[in-house]
Amino acid sequence: MTSPDTAIQSLLQRSPITITDEAAMQQLGSELSKLLPRGSLVTLSGELGAGKSVLVRSTIHGFGYRGRVKSPTYTLIETYSVPETNHEYSGLQLAHLDLYRLTDPDELEYLGFDDVLSNHDVVFIEWPEQGADRLPEAALHVTISYGEGDTRQVSFSDPAENA
Ligand SMILES: Nc1ncnc2c1ncn2[C@@H]1O[C@H](COP(=O)(O)OP(=O)(O)O)[C@@H](O)[C@H]1O
Ligand SMILES: [Mg+2]
Repeated sequence: MTSPDTAIQSLLQRSPITITDEAAMQQLGSELSKLLPRGSLVTLSGELGAGKSVLVRSTIHGFGYRGRVKSPTYTLIETYSVPETNHEYSGLQLAHLDLYRLTDPDELEYLGFDDVLSNHDVVFIEWPEQGADRLPEAALHVTISYGEGDTRQVSFSDPAENA
């Protein structure tokens, strides 16, 4: 992985990115896996169906996880370990959360949210707004908005910079 600052900076400089179709979104996910430093918390905002899960799924696959990556809509959290056979990201622990169905930010405690954060190398959170101020500051915030047809606009921001 590249140095944390440079990697995130390179994404911020390219923002916003116009994505023409789902394949291009998957390509972006695969690029993200090469740029995200260990310890990154990535939050993703955008309407239902914008493509947040598509982007996270392809990033997780980019890290070398080969199995199914399902949307954590009902389970709220899904976790993945990159197999030892993967040379670059061997043993990398990933967590994918979707807080859409969270009824109260307090529920994060029952989910063992603090442990989730400390036990995973890269954590993705869809619908961070639902966690309110219970979420720590993300390294990268992704906003996806709809364009014409399958087009999407993907913006990256550094929450620390906007604070
Ligand atoms: N450019 C695109 N990027 C991502 N998904 C797209 C795109 N165009 C169409 N889609 C479709 O939009 C849907 C995105 O779903 P999903 O990633 O689950 O959304 P979200 O997690 O934001 O609610 C999928 O059905 C996907 O096939
Ligand atoms: Mg989703």
